[in-house]
Amino acid sequence: MLRSVLLGTGSALPRRAVSNAELAKQVDTSDEWIVERTGISNRYVAGPDETTSSLATDAATKALEAAGIEAATIDLIILATATPDQTFPATATTVQNNLGCRGGIAFDVAAVCSGFLYALGVADSMLRSGMAKRALVIGSETFSRILDWEDRTTCVLFGDGAGAVVLEAQEQEGEQQRGILATRLHADGAHNQLLFVDGGPSTTGTVGKLRMKGREVFRHAVVNLADVLKEVIEEAGLSTSDIDWLVPHQANARILDATAKKLNLSPEKVVMTVGQHANTSAASVPLALDQAVRDGRIVKGDLVMLEAMGGGFTWGASLIRM
Ligand code: ACO
Repeated sequence: MLRSVLLGTGSALPRRAVSNAELAKQVDTSDEWIVERTGISNRYVAGPDETTSSLATDAATKALEAAGIEAATIDLIILATATPDQTFPATATTVQNNLGCRGGIAFDVAAVCSGFLYALGVADSMLRSGMAKRALVIGSETFSRILDWEDRTTCVLFGDGAGAVVLEAQEQEGEQQRGILATRLHADGAHNQLLFVDGGPSTTGTVGKLRMKGREVFRHAVVNLADVLKEVIEEAGLSTSDIDWLVPHQANARILDATAKKLNLSPEKVVMTVGQHANTSAASVPLALDQAVRDGRIVKGDLVMLEAMGGGFTWGASLIRM
């Protein structure tokens, strides 16, 4: 069976780290409040020379190095972002140019925090249908540019960063097939006013700022994520106990704990980076995945569940044998 096999991972963070204590000098908040409610201690914030495309290019370069392949052999680039460099062209084409590859497919996907899961699902479909052979799937964000730095209910929660994976279409046989085994994606536009940006080219002509009803987002996140994880496990014909690692979207340590509990997964099986990175939207899943691969926790053959939920609402999960 033709499968999308993961060949390498990479990630990138801006140079500047910003602690809770530093934020508490700008807005009426405290390290204690942020840590207790979210698990976040630190986030990275892009400087003027750091952009969604530059972070994406760094992450992609590292993923290509880890995979041991040349950029020129990539024929599909899908970049998930809600903070593109420009309204158009797609930031994926800027990354394509930076990497020095030409002529393949390159486009952006917008599904906010679920963007990487959506991009992975689209790439998997395109690889298995024969439209492309080798793909770079990237999540990259500079949310610091769309935060209201005077709104303490949102500005403490987010950070900037990028993560990338290289996928290749490969024939896989037998019981322990490598690659993406199952993916489920969902959206429900009825809730799009719980988490949104109050601007855009077609409405206000401005970039806008992020607005969120955090408590309601939290409630939906726990229910939707538990449901989609069950769907993917069922579709793959496996059970929760088969999962070696859960690599969730890093929104809030309490959402991660609640999701693991609902699935009866022990906390040691959950990769958690939210404390250091905060919520990096579409970048958070590939960033966490790369960290766990590089520190030796996730190894070839492991069964890894990725999941995310974000604005829209959009949500999804994907099961991969590394
Ligand atoms: N510092 C200090 N006090 C604060 C801060 C802050 N940074 N932010 C809010 N408060 C205050 C509020 O003003 C409120 O005060 P009041 O009671 O006097 O009115 C009080 O703290 C409680 O506010 P709540 O919003 O009810 O706090 P809650 O316990 O719900 O925590 C949080 C808020 C952390 C946003 C939580 O709801 C959450 O994590 N929601 C999920 C949202 C999320 O992660 N979204 C990311 C994108 S979607 C996704 O990725 C899944």
